Amino acid sequence: MSTTFQIDTSTSRANPTPAPMKRLTVPRIRQRKVGGTTEEPIVMLTAYTARQAQLLDAHCDLLLVGDSLGQVIYGLPSTVPVTLEMMANHAAAVVRGSYHSVVVVDMPFGAYEASPQQAFESAARLLKESGAAAVKLEGGEAMAETVAFLTRRGIPVMGHVGLTPQAVNMLGGYMARGRSDAEAEKIVTDAKALDEAGAFAIVVEGVVEPIAIEVTQSVACPTIGIGASAQCDGQVLVTEDMLGMFERVPRFVKKYGNIAETIEQTAAKYAEEVRARSFPGEEQTYQPKA
Ligand code: KIV
Repeated sequence: MSTTFQIDTSTSRANPTPAPMKRLTVPRIRQRKVGGTTEEPIVMLTAYTARQAQLLDAHCDLLLVGDSLGQVIYGLPSTVPVTLEMMANHAAAVVRGSYHSVVVVDMPFGAYEASPQQAFESAARLLKESGAAAVKLEGGEAMAETVAFLTRRGIPVMGHVGLTPQAVNMLGGYMARGRSDAEAEKIVTDAKALDEAGAFAIVVEGVVEPIAIEVTQSVACPTIGIGASAQCDGQVLVTEDMLGMFERVPRFVKKYGNIAETIEQTAAKYAEEVRARSFPGEEQTYQPKA
């Protein structure tokens, strides 16, 4: 049975992307890196809701339903408590809100590490319930067998090396990685293992720049940097960070907006008008027909 995902344009709040576009595919993203070079950098942002996806879609190549939604949406202390159900629900919303970008969904902590079989069951559930095209998982060499298992069974996988937030309890914090020779060597080895296992792209997070560049030059698939280097094959940021939703942001984030201020000022104006009984006004109220 095939499912078609459509935005309901009959309701007043549904505001579809300007023009439905043909959706990009995983092979087309993978093919953007030719002979070690990606001419036009790949653009990825996180998205967690349908409306957010509608607004971001036309500007991105990939939308990542990141498990960062644990902190950003649910106020959790880390990504560790995030569940498969949360990921499937938010990914379905993002697919419904997009026409163009490849939607990638994060495999949450505990849903894939035990075995390739466990990973297959979790990934299949995510893709079936959401309509997303690919999954992302954290970890390098230790996950290579799983990446090969999934890709051979029709599930495209994006890898994630360097600072891997699901391992915060092992890492002891969110510091940049690759400062020691041993750590740097491990990151490069991890990325190569994922590449050889068939990952179509690899997120390189929180890694000192020379190592991010070395990883990018060492793998055939595109790298997507976050706190890494402009020389990666693409970039990703958490959308709320980039929009200025939070006062405190990590060093690698550039705030392109100040949405927190806009929301606060708008809420203050609304509250003022409600308290002054100037909202709702004539335009927002219904009167009996004369
Ligand atoms: O969960 C997430 O948002 C991520 C990105 C930061 C790469 O993994």
